[in-house]
Amino acid sequence: MKIAMGNDHSAVQMKNTIKAYVEAKGYQVIDFGTDSAESCDYPMYGEKVGRAVALGEADYGIAICGTGIGIGIAAGKVKGVRVCTCSEPYSARLSRMHNNTNVLTFGARVIGEEMAKMIVDQWLDEKYEGGRHQRRVDQLAQIESRN
Ligand code: RB5
Repeated sequence: MKIAMGNDHSAVQMKNTIKAYVEAKGYQVIDFGTDSAESCDYPMYGEKVGRAVALGEADYGIAICGTGIGIGIAAGKVKGVRVCTCSEPYSARLSRMHNNTNVLTFGARVIGEEMAKMIVDQWLDEKYEGGRHQRRVDQLAQIESRN
């Protein structure tokens, strides 16, 4: 399984920690950077992660900025991407079960590395339930089609 990862300057260390963590779990990582602490703009990195998932180059995406919000908005602009931006594991888990989220974002300035690992564990390990949730996920795609 492949995970596309991307981050801005605020999240280089967090990205490296989470990258090593998921690699140790057996995932292959496509790392879109940045690896520099020099100030950069998060939208490009969110888009790269979103596109990799939408095009099927990666099974999941994990994108990190200061809050997780900007890079999450960017990734969510890509058609077919459903983003979970969260700071605790419960929402991450439910976002997989009910919303079939395919990109996870969080903030390197908001949560610590151990919380990030718990979130990633819950998000990667949980399965989409389908059933009644599929109708609602289909409606999300319909919103993309008519806007
Ligand atoms: C960068 O200063 C910061 O704005 C960015 O990392 C992110 O938090 C945006 O949502």
